[in-house]
Amino acid sequence: MKKLTETVQTADWKKEKHVPVIHVENKDGELLVTAQVGEEVEHPNTLEHHIAWIKLFFQAEGAKFPVEIGSYQFSAHGEEELFSKPYVAAKLKTDKKGIVYALSYCNIHGLWENSEEI
Ligand SMILES: [Fe+2]
Repeated sequence: MKKLTETVQTADWKKEKHVPVIHVENKDGELLVTAQVGEEVEHPNTLEHHIAWIKLFFQAEGAKFPVEIGSYQFSAHGEEELFSKPYVAAKLKTDKKGIVYALSYCNIHGLWENSEEI
């Protein structure tokens, strides 16, 4: 049986960017995590072709499973000239080290993943 995770892509194409870029900043003991698709090269944002959602997870060192940090759905793709940009920001309170994962979904090109050690 083929697993869904085998279809998640991590390497981007030359012209179109799908992999969410993660930034983590420690601000006064709180972690500010951002993830964005198209930081350098914008992904199309039309009704026909867009980034539908980004989800963030954190897996602490030694933890068996990742914990979902949050989930964001991008719903405006040009209606009334309004465009939801595929960008999310989350604040975390943890003393633990681990890995932040970002998963994005393009309605045409599927699932994309990135991760960042903190
Ligand atoms: Fe795409």
